[in-house]
Amino acid sequence: MTTSTEATPVRPEALVVGASGITGSALVDHLLSLGWRVTALSRRPLARDGVRTVAADLRDPASLDAALAGERPTHVFFTAWQRQETEAENIRVNGGMVRDLLAALSNAPLEHVALVTGLKHYLGPFEAYAAGVVPDTPFHEEEPRLDVPNFYYAQEDELFAAAERQGFTWSVHRSHTVIGHAVGNAMNMGLTLAVQATLAKELDLDFVFPGSAAQWDGLTDMTDAGLLAEHMVWAATSPEGADEAFNVVDGDVFRWRWMWPRLAAHLGVDPARVVGYADGPRPLEEQMAPHEHAWAGIAERHGLVEPDVTRLASWWHTDADLGREMEVVTDMGKSREAGFTGYRRTDRAFADLFDRYRADRLVP
Ligand SMILES: NC(=O)c1ccc[n+]([C@@H]2O[C@H](COP(=O)([O-])OP(=O)(O)OC[C@H]3O[C@@H](n4cnc5c(N)ncnc54)[C@H](OP(=O)(O)O)[C@@H]3O)[C@@H](O)[C@H]2O)c1
Repeated sequence: MTTSTEATPVRPEALVVGASGITGSALVDHLLSLGWRVTALSRRPLARDGVRTVAADLRDPASLDAALAGERPTHVFFTAWQRQETEAENIRVNGGMVRDLLAALSNAPLEHVALVTGLKHYLGPFEAYAAGVVPDTPFHEEEPRLDVPNFYYAQEDELFAAAERQGFTWSVHRSHTVIGHAVGNAMNMGLTLAVQATLAKELDLDFVFPGSAAQWDGLTDMTDAGLLAEHMVWAATSPEGADEAFNVVDGDVFRWRWMWPRLAAHLGVDPARVVGYADGPRPLEEQMAPHEHAWAGIAERHGLVEPDVTRLASWWHTDADLGREMEVVTDMGKSREAGFTGYRRTDRAFADLFDRYRADRLVP
């Protein structure tokens, strides 16, 4: 029986920053499934039932102050980013977005802020990718920072400083390549490969692995966006997650030479048209350039919802990930020891995702 002296538990309220992105939209789904109150922030308002939407530009502090003045989130999940031409600009813009968002929430009852970053923490930024001394694989969280400027370090530093000032706990989530459901976002390997397979089937092309021998033959792993969402919410609500950085990957390892024909089968590609690594990388940016113009007609023929292929495929990013000249594997021991036991089987995660793209008429 409830008595008048018992405190009413505060229902947690989440602010998902970057809610329309590949990570943010998975977080919104997961938080809603757990019964949280969710507010979604991005520039383009999120079309989603059950969510309050805040349209604001993280690069405009005045817009943020105005949009967030009445907000009272207890938990912030920061997943926004904007790719810039140089790492110096990445640091200025993406570090600034974390700083200004948290400053605009200085009067909110914040308990925890979770920030998603990635393995470039260990590999270095795009412009110096795996160029310097990279730690040995599998990557462990306690590795010291690389001696190269990196926007993830800048975002972490803004997070740590605000946590100190404003009195909340924090967590950092270092994901590998994220696969999930989003359109018009910067980096989306799942949708990119689904579009490649569709173009191959429709235009009678081979389905050619674009990457390096090291990726084709070596061990690697991946991060399902749904698992990443579970990991962020776990850290945000568990004492073991407070003030810690964690790697976050599915929990299995695979070789692309094993995965590529399986993905092709999930995508309905004729096994005779599946081509693996041979004699060097064949980047999708070059493979697909002559064929991209065909997408609008394919979309019309099959009643697809997005005729603009550039909003679906991020060839550059899949080329960068699959073109790495080194093995990239990630240790999950720290999360498991702390109590996070979530897991995905990566080929199943890909298959489920492709089913969802088909159901949403993104691919035939
Ligand atoms: N995707 C991957 O494979 C991957 C892998 C490893 C690490 N990561 C890291 O994970 C983090 C999240 O990436 P993601 O791929 O999930 O991002 P994403 O899908 O590109 O989504 C970015 C989100 O941020 C919002 N946004 C961007 N600029 C904004 C601004 N000025 N104001 C307000 N909202 C803004 C976008 O919405 P609007 O455009 O509507 O504003 C969108 O909701 C990044 O640090 C990324 O480097 C991603």
